[in-house]
Amino acid sequence: MKWTSAILVVLTLVSSTPNRAEDKVSYAGYSVVQVGVNSTDEMVGLEAESGCVTLHEWSKHGVGFLCDRFQSPRLRRAAKSKHISTRVSTRHLDRLIREEQRSPRSADPQNNNRRLNARNKNRGRSDMLSHNAYVGVDGIYRFLDALQDSYPNVNVKSIGKTFEGRDIKVVVVNEGRGLPKLFIDAGIHAREWISPAATLFFLDRLTKVLSRRKSKSTPPTIGEKYEWHIVPLANPDGYEFSRTSDRMWRKNRRRFSDSKCVGVDLNRNFPQGYGVGASKNHCSEVYQGPSPFSEAESRAIKNYVEQLQNIRVAVSVHSFGNVLIYPWGYTNKPHPNQRELHRIASSVANAIRNITGEVYQPGTAKQVFGNWGIAGGATDDYYITKGILYSFTMELPEQGADGTEHGFLLPPSNIKRVGRHLSAALTTLAIMANNN
Ligand code: ARG
Ligand code: ZN
Repeated sequence: MKWTSAILVVLTLVSSTPNRAEDKVSYAGYSVVQVGVNSTDEMVGLEAESGCVTLHEWSKHGVGFLCDRFQSPRLRRAAKSKHISTRVSTRHLDRLIREEQRSPRSADPQNNNRRLNARNKNRGRSDMLSHNAYVGVDGIYRFLDALQDSYPNVNVKSIGKTFEGRDIKVVVVNEGRGLPKLFIDAGIHAREWISPAATLFFLDRLTKVLSRRKSKSTPPTIGEKYEWHIVPLANPDGYEFSRTSDRMWRKNRRRFSDSKCVGVDLNRNFPQGYGVGASKNHCSEVYQGPSPFSEAESRAIKNYVEQLQNIRVAVSVHSFGNVLIYPWGYTNKPHPNQRELHRIASSVANAIRNITGEVYQPGTAKQVFGNWGIAGGATDDYYITKGILYSFTMELPEQGADGTEHGFLLPPSNIKRVGRHLSAALTTLAIMANNN
């Protein structure tokens, strides 16, 4: 073979292999700016003037705008002229992403649970999680299967398929004993990696505590008083995409024939308040989809929840904001059960604080996020209409233990810490809802 044709062969080989790095969305030059807007109109106005896009998760400093190096100065100028405050929360988004990716990904799945794995002949220890790293869909599902194999009171099922054909899995704990039910969804928004990670930590803990109870005389723990239904990864397509291609991806991965833009915001695809705080534009981060329940993933949740009887509590796990939100989220009008919801959310916040030291604020979406928190089509508002008495959205933190803000890019060294917040919250909720 002549050297020229050899080079040609090499070139063809190289170019026909998709280059991961090239497929990746780059955030070089991008920063995140918190803008103290007071209304959706102000937010939309500033978006239009600057070219920045809002990230649609809110902090106490306002709404996060994602801007490239040309848009940031435009945003600051436009905001200043309107006397709206701005504050850069992430100067180099790409650096933060790289830092997060340098953390110990490969360390997981880890092998730190001998007792469990000793009982488990078929599965390697490698299927357990160390909760020190964010793992992919396959790793998460292997962990769920390992739990099922290890504990007789754990069942894993599929509640439906995603747009791309992945299973959406639910873990059921204590099934078939006629217990009241507690439903949890996590990972509806792809980039909120801490949500599934903290939920898996809780699940790990719950199953361990349940298996530890030995003697009949010990009083039952709260975990035994519920049938737990936990969907740790409600949007696996989006999650996988956020790992392989675009770290800031929020929606699912639905394709449309009439638009080049991909994805629907699954938490804008439920019927209660559908269209409020959402967009009809396919390209928007908060695209509501063609109709309520147009998406396989939101439909899977609907179908599953509707066939379960006696769900007492439902919790949607998101990041970020350190808040405990109760309905209604789509309107100013108070929910008929508002006082009770507030009482419970406050007790949960107190418990998290007492147990972990972390501060969470209870309130409606409007109370905790301001006017731009009002948004419909979300799981919490849907759940409460299904006869579920207590429905909450829990927004996990963006801050590390030292107070550094990370947005969605919370380093994996925080998984256990935040997992403890979630455990404290769910345990307290379970106790309170059991006494009522
Ligand atoms: N961060 C969540 C979202 O944007 C908050 C949902 C709060 N609930 C509500 N009904 N607005 O989807
Ligand atoms: Zn979210």
